[in-house]
Amino acid sequence: MFEAYKLSEISEMKKIQLKGKDFLQLSDFSTEEILYMLDVAQELKVLQKQGKPQPHLSGRVLGMIFEKSSTRTRVSFEVGMLQLGGHGIFLSSKDIQLGRGESISDTAKVLSRYVDGIMIRTFSHDSVEELAEHATVPVINGLTDLQHPAQVLADLLTILEHKGKFAGLKLCYIGDGNNNMAHSLMEGAAKVGMDISIASPTGYLPNGKITEKAIKAGKLTGSAVMITNDPLEAIKDADVIVTDVWTSMGQEEESSLRLKAFQAYQVNKELCKYAKSDFIFMHCLPAHRGEEVTEEIIDGPHSVVFDEAENRLHAQKAILKLLLA
Ligand code: CP
Ligand code: NVA
Repeated sequence: MFEAYKLSEISEMKKIQLKGKDFLQLSDFSTEEILYMLDVAQELKVLQKQGKPQPHLSGRVLGMIFEKSSTRTRVSFEVGMLQLGGHGIFLSSKDIQLGRGESISDTAKVLSRYVDGIMIRTFSHDSVEELAEHATVPVINGLTDLQHPAQVLADLLTILEHKGKFAGLKLCYIGDGNNNMAHSLMEGAAKVGMDISIASPTGYLPNGKITEKAIKAGKLTGSAVMITNDPLEAIKDADVIVTDVWTSMGQEEESSLRLKAFQAYQVNKELCKYAKSDFIFMHCLPAHRGEEVTEEIIDGPHSVVFDEAENRLHAQKAILKLLLA
């Protein structure tokens, strides 16, 4: 049972060995492994704040392939590598041969001869799986259409910092249930024993297979997974409220359709009245104020979105240290 673990004890779990593994989705990891990553992230964050050196990846290089735009992911991975004594190389798919049709498998094999790890942000989740299959170095998912696990590891770290626990908490996600954030949050919450409720309109409900897997994982940790069309039902007594853009990268042509479909799914003051009075509000950013969330909420006292953004750096440094060092 999750309650049996105290985060301070996780650092004793030195037998957890993640070196050489890929980081593609949270469902690939055990509860203990995820808690261990969070523990290492907290340690690295303290060291960073104290200005202490963390040369765990001295001389190591991370190749960072981007097929989509990014502010946080690009900067936090690059800065993270630097703070760990290594280096990150930004590889825009517009500039490398992958963008001109070189195969994923050849790209994986070639990059593996130069770098110690590959981070990729792309469209199809299958591309990341294929890259990982052919690379001989760890592959890290920096967002696909299906998953955004690095973001959710940072989100879990943020929840832990603000709430001090996972068990007994209810996370509510309102909006597009069929996107990368909803899927990774569902996997992450189920693994750490936090209840999760997702409210989305019909046609935008989460992927069935991911939902089934999360329900199964939740049974082991005591996490309830609830999917509904009703935002009021989902947000009732929530400790953590999360939303994301209604139109994700690559869906721009559907944006006017989506704008209509999600009208009743805006996180605003009225809706948040149904949550616990000390709820925190999270958003992976970038946000569209006035669409998925009002300014009043995202810029208000319950919002922790900039702590969340900062934690991308610390959570990813833990991933990098554990996989690459
Ligand atoms: N949250 C997130 O992944 O942000 P970027 O798209 O800026 O990397
Ligand atoms: N769901 C969003 C997340 C951005 C970080 C997208 O894929 O565009």
